[in-house]
Amino acid sequence: MITNYTKYSGSGNFVYQKTKNNMILVTGATGQFGGKAIDHLLKKGIEPSRISTLVRDAAKSQAIQEKGIEIRVGDYADYDSLVRAFNGVDKLLLVSSNDRQAFENRTAHHLNVIKAAKEAGVKHIVYTSFVRKPGFENSAIAAFQNSHVESEAYLINSGIDYTILQNGIYLEMIPVFAEEKVAETGTIVFPAQNGKASYVLLKELAEAAAHILATGGHQNKLYQLTNTDSVSFFDIAGELSRAIGKEVSYQSPPVEEFESMLKSFGVPAQYIGMFTTWATALAQDTMDVDDPTLEGFLGRKPTTLKQFIEHIYAKIDILPSKAFTNL
Ligand SMILES: NC(=O)c1ccc[n+]([C@@H]2O[C@H](COP(=O)([O-])OP(=O)(O)OC[C@H]3O[C@@H](n4cnc5c(N)ncnc54)[C@H](OP(=O)(O)O)[C@@H]3O)[C@@H](O)[C@H]2O)c1
Repeated sequence: MITNYTKYSGSGNFVYQKTKNNMILVTGATGQFGGKAIDHLLKKGIEPSRISTLVRDAAKSQAIQEKGIEIRVGDYADYDSLVRAFNGVDKLLLVSSNDRQAFENRTAHHLNVIKAAKEAGVKHIVYTSFVRKPGFENSAIAAFQNSHVESEAYLINSGIDYTILQNGIYLEMIPVFAEEKVAETGTIVFPAQNGKASYVLLKELAEAAAHILATGGHQNKLYQLTNTDSVSFFDIAGELSRAIGKEVSYQSPPVEEFESMLKSFGVPAQYIGMFTTWATALAQDTMDVDDPTLEGFLGRKPTTLKQFIEHIYAKIDILPSKAFTNL
């Protein structure tokens, strides 16, 4: 690795910053996906000195710094901070924004990152998008998908090398949709009908992202990273029944009935909206995409629904507590 000093003028201020060849920068580094991607980069033998991170709040970055990894403070909404942070970076992992307001904010964040990366001279961007299939425009998650479509198009047209990861829905979302207490109640109530999706473990998607960053040949490629078997909530109830040795039934009420039920439990309107939106999208089979690409990157079969459910009920810690609110 060669270390040198470059002069740059990201926000009109001229500064000298230490830059290193082959530098990889990971955004969202204080989050689940970015954090796990960093761990996998280290496991793959990438030196900590070659890894850099974008964090919003330096106070949350102690664990990153303890690994010997540099932090650069910036916000997707603050263009100048991004240009400064991306100085000297070769490859950038753009973990998609989880802004909870309008989806347009997420698009604006992604465009800011891509534009700033271009100004800073980044050579390759790996972007975490979401799995799509034809007809998505008519699905319950069309607005969410359109944000990714616009971001992907902007990246493709940016002139920077890109790799688009159309990540499947996280397996970790299942306990959130099915409710954590399902083992006690013995019932899953969720209006996803018989819709199927190809759920995949977050940390395995992060491992695939690290593989792409650490190896060559991924320029200007789009990968669908899902599991190889789509499952419905009937399948999920069946696996739960087997795992806990107790019958778990699945009920898919009409959406309005489900909304009234959540309301009567005092669930905030924002969460009711999220539950019904994702349940409807699942009922529409909009995430029913099976693809072997992830298996190829991992060099093994991705974690299955059965293994995931067994892990959760054996209390193995693979369940991110914040998963649902961040979708
Ligand atoms: N495929 C799926 O099923 C699925 C499920 C959930 C989420 N997602 C998507 O995948 C992404 C990663 O998921 P995750 O579980 O890792 O989420 P997470 O744990 O909430 O992490 C999000 C990360 O993004 C950072 N971030 C948010 N807004 C930012 C901004 N304006 N500027 C700079 N950094 C910002 C956060 O920083 P702070 O620590 O400062 O907040 C955090 O590090 C999400 O953002 C979402 O788009 C996909």
